[in-house]
Amino acid sequence: MHRSIADQTIEELGGPRSVLARQRRDHAELDRLLERCRSTTGPEQQQALRATWQLVFPHAFAEESVLWPALRRAASDGEVLTLRVEEEHQEINQLVTEIERMQPGDPGWDELLERTFALLDRDVRDEEDLLLPALQRSLDGPALQRLGRSWELVRRTAPTRPHPVVSRRPPGNVAAALPLTLVDRSRDALDRAALGGQGAVATGSRLASRGLAALAGAIERLPPVRRGEDPRTSVGTGAHGASS
Ligand SMILES: [Fe+2]
Ligand SMILES: [Fe+2]
Repeated sequence: MHRSIADQTIEELGGPRSVLARQRRDHAELDRLLERCRSTTGPEQQQALRATWQLVFPHAFAEESVLWPALRRAASDGEVLTLRVEEEHQEINQLVTEIERMQPGDPGWDELLERTFALLDRDVRDEEDLLLPALQRSLDGPALQRLGRSWELVRRTAPTRPHPVVSRRPPGNVAAALPLTLVDRSRDALDRAALGGQGAVATGSRLASRGLAALAGAIERLPPVRRGEDPRTSVGTGAHGASS
């Protein structure tokens, strides 16, 4: 029998730098952000949603490229466990892509948000109760800290937006990381300029951001960034169907 990492002390998790403690800190921050998304509307909700996606996507991208491959190598049930969470990630990528195509108040807006939030909650529970305890059983303290450093490094430089077409596994997602990160983080800066500016600056920023979105779409469809994908998390052929 193993214990959820939700019920353990920082020492039991391997110290504040262990990947388990780092994960739990991010999950607590996500909880606070989801609470804000649920209790606000209008521009305040938009801001909370943007902050949520900017936390969620680099966090998950770094899990897919660093943590889950390590779990597959270390634990005999790693394949089953990681596929379960990769399917959740895939569905979250597709739902947020759909949300970003909509305007607040469109038919189905609240339901779509609620479905996404519920899935994020489930992803956290699966990780804290199943995957991370499995990682804890297989690795010692120093290894959990080394993994924590690698995960943090990737998280800080990972894409910040949903990319449902990219492989959820290496080598595809690793090949995609650098170009998509550059595009996503430039778009984040342009969107901030559009929000704060007026007239030509705001319009120019919005247009440039849209152009970069098209570029991200083109990068996502390059064959190398789809390599390593399990058919169950592949857009159009997986259990969740196409992302439209
Ligand atoms: Fe996580
Ligand atoms: Fe996750």
